[in-house]
Amino acid sequence: MNKPAITSLIRQMSLRQLQVFEAIARHASFTRAAEELHLTQPTVSAQIRNLADTVGQPLFEQIGKKIHITATGRALYKACREVFDALARFEMETADMKGLKHGQLRLAVVTTAKYFVPRALGPFCQRYPGVDVTLKVTNRERVLERLLENEDDLYIFGQPPAGIDVEAIPFLRNPLVVIASPDHPLAKKRRIPIARIAQEKFLVRELGSGTRLAAERLFAEFGLKVPVKMELGSNEAIKQGVAGGLGLSILSHHTLFMEEQGGLLRVLNVEGFPIERHWYMVYPKGKQLSVVARTFLDYMMAEGKRIAETPANVKSRLRRSQTRGKTERTGRSSAVSGKRRAAR
Ligand code: PGA
Repeated sequence: MNKPAITSLIRQMSLRQLQVFEAIARHASFTRAAEELHLTQPTVSAQIRNLADTVGQPLFEQIGKKIHITATGRALYKACREVFDALARFEMETADMKGLKHGQLRLAVVTTAKYFVPRALGPFCQRYPGVDVTLKVTNRERVLERLLENEDDLYIFGQPPAGIDVEAIPFLRNPLVVIASPDHPLAKKRRIPIARIAQEKFLVRELGSGTRLAAERLFAEFGLKVPVKMELGSNEAIKQGVAGGLGLSILSHHTLFMEEQGGLLRVLNVEGFPIERHWYMVYPKGKQLSVVARTFLDYMMAEGKRIAETPANVKSRLRRSQTRGKTERTGRSSAVSGKRRAAR
């Protein structure tokens, strides 16, 4: 077997220096890195000074009060993540050989997935108490950025990113429905044409939201535009606005757990709805999943549906509304058509 090339750079760098560097780059802050690693600020600064001397170029620049990573720093950050990922995988594999499931699971999910992912993590963590989970919940654009930076083990999207080479595995239905307050004039109507709801006013999620993108695409298929009354950055705020009579909205059925049951909101029976989508487990093609990440993926494939299941009465109402006025859209077709569009 060939001897690996040990450059003078590798000889002089220490893993500790790289760990300090990685934490500063991730937090864009010396103070937060020092806190995370339980080190003093002078120690952190000294480690980075030595590392920059070894590399022969500055790794950070300070402009005003902010720390900015340099191009050299960015390249080193990428290398660091690869080294730490490989070491973490090694640690997990050896733990797995001993029959344990130990290690870190880093998840980043789009905002709406928070309605079932934390619920699924409960039984998962009970089954594998040695697994340490971090869950980042943010909107689609930001999750995409994290995916491109390879910051996490797995990502959950409502539509696989297009234009990026990824594995995207559908594991759960994600129907989008039109909601109104129960006393809205359309609440008791059946087979409402989409052109009719286009005369109403809508509360929509922020730009960059996958839910908003899917709603806009469906309206566009009918030659219509979503009539926006107000843009709100949260599903919760939208539901309250709709319940208060501010307008209609289109949201994932997963967000309506409580409100639909409590009679606060009504799902309208509209042509083209529900928009049939799926939740996807996504990771960069070629990425070697850790044992823990693979275990979580298998777990969600097997158990996700049961855990995220809506109460029986809500489900049956959904089924009824599906059989009326439904335009069939499978997760597969949305993934395929997604590929044709630019990554967003
Ligand atoms: P969002 O994504 O929470 O960013 O709207 C959800 C989805 O794509 O279904």
